Amino acid sequence: MRMYDIIKKKRDGGELTTEEINFFVDGYVDGSIPDYQASAFCMAVYFSGMSARETTDLTLAMAKSGDMLDLEVLGDKTVDKHSTGGVGDKVTLVVAPVAAALGCTVAKMSGRGLGHTGGTVDKLESIPGFKVELSSEEFFSQVKDIGISVIGQSDNLTPADKKLYALRDVTATVESIPLIASSIISKKLAGGSRHIVLDVTCGSGAFMKTPAAAEELAAAMVEIGKMAGRKMTAVITNMDTPLGINIGNILEVQEAVEVLKGGGPEDLRTVCVEIASLMYASCFDCTADEARPKVIEVIENGTAFEKLKAMVKAQGGDTAVLDDFSLFNKPKYTYELKSSQAGCISRMNAEAIGIASVVLGAGREKKGDPIDYKAGISLLKKTGDAVSVGDTLAVLYTDLEDKLPQAEQMILDALEFSDIKPAEETLIYKVIN
Ligand code: URA
Repeated sequence: MRMYDIIKKKRDGGELTTEEINFFVDGYVDGSIPDYQASAFCMAVYFSGMSARETTDLTLAMAKSGDMLDLEVLGDKTVDKHSTGGVGDKVTLVVAPVAAALGCTVAKMSGRGLGHTGGTVDKLESIPGFKVELSSEEFFSQVKDIGISVIGQSDNLTPADKKLYALRDVTATVESIPLIASSIISKKLAGGSRHIVLDVTCGSGAFMKTPAAAEELAAAMVEIGKMAGRKMTAVITNMDTPLGINIGNILEVQEAVEVLKGGGPEDLRTVCVEIASLMYASCFDCTADEARPKVIEVIENGTAFEKLKAMVKAQGGDTAVLDDFSLFNKPKYTYELKSSQAGCISRMNAEAIGIASVVLGAGREKKGDPIDYKAGISLLKKTGDAVSVGDTLAVLYTDLEDKLPQAEQMILDALEFSDIKPAEETLIYKVIN
């Protein structure tokens, strides 16, 4: 079998056999297939798509590319959650400790930033000392002890996704339903949790731009997960406007902590409460409506925040920064972006704002680039807000002074103004389970 022939077959719209898909995954992981052929393969899949059978084969091959955890001994309430990505999406930092505080066993493998979207692993690493790489034994024993661990693709878990994810990030091959579905579900299957809740984002800041595309992706992932014996829930959420106010790693940790302390922006709180309710409902076999008051209770009584601190401590992180944000490192430059227009913000291009945060240093331009955890954007005005000339639209944080004009222009170009207030955005479109 030759990789060249597999790329050509997919480029020309052919359906790959299970053996061909396994050949690609095994060869890419063992290094016999180079990055340039894997990039061409991903681009061929991007344009030609994959059948449901091919997507399932790719997912299973990726899941089996490394160890597969068996969490059965931890009971029947193991739960994992994953987002298809967004701008300002710090939901995991809130819902994982909430679910753990409610008695769910949260064993989660997260990803790094991808394209214009941020990643939970980068956000966690912005907490000084936090270790995202645990051995399977350490992961397992932490979950057993305190009921929660969030790690990166550590040890030998889904090495195929670890390599492909970083490659897709820099080769414009992220926005493909089979590639996203296989990336996410392979991690979830290898992570071993029985219950899986997927946040499938849609809109300008998401990889799926329309509810129809998001629903197709959600259905593909739910099907594969169910076939593998997992209890699946998917929720389609709005990502037309960045979620919350803060974009950037330290900034997002701070905002997640605010939600866990009972505050934070309303859109973020609503989405977090909904997803945490779905996690609890799946584990305890009740409805989301029955779960919601319990979720609100552990936020209000502080036990969810204590769970976050327990996890940070167990993974070597400095919990003091969570109580006192002034202990986080500070960026060299803080710049207030003022409005020269008056009106109501009628639309925001969330993807462009995500890219502006990457320009400021909060994300990667190239595979393996370092991240400046301090960099980012606070959006003081969002869709629906009235703006007067001279109002601060956003605050930009960076060490890269020369990037400020470019980021400023990108943010200004991403905003549309109107005389009329737009209709309120729907945050939760649909739940599929
Ligand atoms: N999240 C993932 O883990 N993989 C993707 O491909 C997109 C979002």
